[in-house]
Amino acid sequence: MKLLVINGPNLNMLGIREPEIYGSATYQALENLVREAAAEAGFEVEIIQSNHEGALVDAIQQAYGKADGIIINPAAYTHTSVAILDALKTVALPAVEVHISNVKEREDFRQVSYAGMACFHTVMGEGLEGYRTAIRVMKDKLSS
Ligand code: DQA
Repeated sequence: MKLLVINGPNLNMLGIREPEIYGSATYQALENLVREAAAEAGFEVEIIQSNHEGALVDAIQQAYGKADGIIINPAAYTHTSVAILDALKTVALPAVEVHISNVKEREDFRQVSYAGMACFHTVMGEGLEGYRTAIRVMKDKLSS
C-alpha cells in the first residue's frame, strides 16, 4: 500500500521556526519518523514538502491512481486554501489531516480548516508523533 505524506509551507524550517510551538526537532527528523512509522505499518511512502500552494495541489492530483491514502499538514494553507480542499475532493482518496500544534487553542484565524473538510480524521497537538498516529489511523482505515 502506498502513502503520500504532504507538508505545507514553513514546515521545512522545523527546529528553527517558533520552537516553543513546534519543538526543536528538524524537518529531517520528521521525515525520518514518517519513514520509520510508514515502514512499521507496511506502507511504501512518498514525502513532499512545498511552500507553494499550487505545488501542493499538483502533488494531490498526482496521487490519483497511485497512492492509497494521503496524510497532509497543509500548514498555513489549512486556513485559507479552497484549492487544496477541492484537490482532495477531486482525487477522493482517504485523507488524514495532521497539525503539530494544537490549533484549537490558538488564534481565531486558525479555527477554520478547509482541507480538514475532505479528511476523515484530524490529529493535532501531538507534536511530530502526530504523524505516527495519523499513519496508524490510515492503516486501520485501509485494513477495514
Ligand atoms: C500547523 C498549524 C498551522 O496553523 C500553521 O500555520 C502551521 C503549522 C501545525 O502543524 O501545527 O504552519 O499546521
